[in-house]
Amino acid sequence: MINYTEKIPNNVDLGRDRVLQRALEHWQPAFLGWWYDMGPTESRNYDVYLRTAISVEPDGWAQFDYIKMPEYRWGIFLQPRDERRQVNFGTHKGQPAWQDVPGEYRSTLRRIIVTQGDTEPASVEQQKMLGLSCPSLYDLRNIFQVNVEEGRHLWAMVYLLHRYFGRDGREEAEALLARRSGDTDNPRILGAFNEPTPDWLAFYMFTFFTDRDGKFQLCALAESGFDPLARTCRFMLTEEAHHMFVGETGVGRIIQRTCEVMKEKKLETPSDVRALGVIDLQTIQKYLNFHYSVTLDLYGSDVSSNAANYFTSGLKGRFRETKLEDDHVLIDAFYPVSEVVGGKIVTKNVPALTALNERLRDDYIDEIADGVSRWQRVIDQAGIPFRLTLPHKGFHREIGNFAGHFISPEGEVLTEEAWKKHEFEWVPSPKDYEFVQSLMSGRVAEPGKFANWIAPPLRGVNNQPLNFEYVRFN
Ligand SMILES: [Fe+2]
Ligand SMILES: [Fe+2]
Repeated sequence: MINYTEKIPNNVDLGRDRVLQRALEHWQPAFLGWWYDMGPTESRNYDVYLRTAISVEPDGWAQFDYIKMPEYRWGIFLQPRDERRQVNFGTHKGQPAWQDVPGEYRSTLRRIIVTQGDTEPASVEQQKMLGLSCPSLYDLRNIFQVNVEEGRHLWAMVYLLHRYFGRDGREEAEALLARRSGDTDNPRILGAFNEPTPDWLAFYMFTFFTDRDGKFQLCALAESGFDPLARTCRFMLTEEAHHMFVGETGVGRIIQRTCEVMKEKKLETPSDVRALGVIDLQTIQKYLNFHYSVTLDLYGSDVSSNAANYFTSGLKGRFRETKLEDDHVLIDAFYPVSEVVGGKIVTKNVPALTALNERLRDDYIDEIADGVSRWQRVIDQAGIPFRLTLPHKGFHREIGNFAGHFISPEGEVLTEEAWKKHEFEWVPSPKDYEFVQSLMSGRVAEPGKFANWIAPPLRGVNNQPLNFEYVRFN
């Protein structure tokens, strides 16, 4: 169980380490200051029906109640320690998992933790304004749940920085509150976390695509030989599952609503569909193309000596590392990566150690493809002849082997000029954004009501009815 009697709820026996406790209690008001500035706009007095962790066991960890978000019990929750756990890959394979930071990996580990930690507050900043245009109280509650949990993920990483990295760690923890998504002088570390999330379709796409990158990064770090990192990531993953649920069902409900209207009115042309106040499938495809390609960049370069080092050092594993059947050292293994040679995309085998980013990206793509086929089923069931597709891996990329190339969604290598001619058939144009935002000019705040552009969900939160008052504005 989690100790809620302390100022900072935790299951790491924080009270026993006074110095650490004081350092974190010092960081806590700075975090709240950040939340007031950069958390959801105008939300501080709302009573929100939120879940709070009460234990770290995979089942039954949540308690639901009304809470004002600034009073959310952000805290430090690690999965319980397994005394027998070992480093499961790389050159230290077979050694007991590290309970302290190995000196030689100190700066590398710190960078890994800071990079992960930086994404958490970034997404809250990106979603700051969306509460003002929510399609229902149900959806408003869900975005707030995502936001408070991203706040807690920041706490999870800050705990590691404070506990294991001394003064450097404390400075990094402050810097995590100082960077701002999209800021020109002090931006967030990774590209996708500086892109705006201007509307709810973008929000659902973000939680489907980009929170799932979060899942895969956390899965890789949950394999880490540095045991406290592995344990904190395992618990974060249980929260992440909800974020991806919000994204997948959110996009699914938008598709469903569009299909209902298309079917009922027997319409197919995008402009006709739009005229009825729903989002045409072509625009949904463009959002998909954008969020998918921007998120693929988060995995980094296809061939990367950093990725090899992280693995060989035992710091960051592969997706489901311990379930994979190979030597977990990968010295002699190869992995295929693509590149553009003479205007064509070719595949070649490279040492598997250097291709670990690409491998994690491929694992991610498999899971994404499953989700997209579930969206497709909604369209098929409505009998509408439209196919949602994942663009080619090289489409619209800025990092790795495809960066600097102009690749169509079908995977043709084009000239810059040819690509630019089609750009807004493939990614949303300013006019597309304008249209989507025009549907979301105000919020739908009556219990049980949903905006015209989205279907209601199948069921409410925690078995509550759809017309439950998920948020009280006061
Ligand atoms: Fe997160
Ligand atoms: Fe998340």
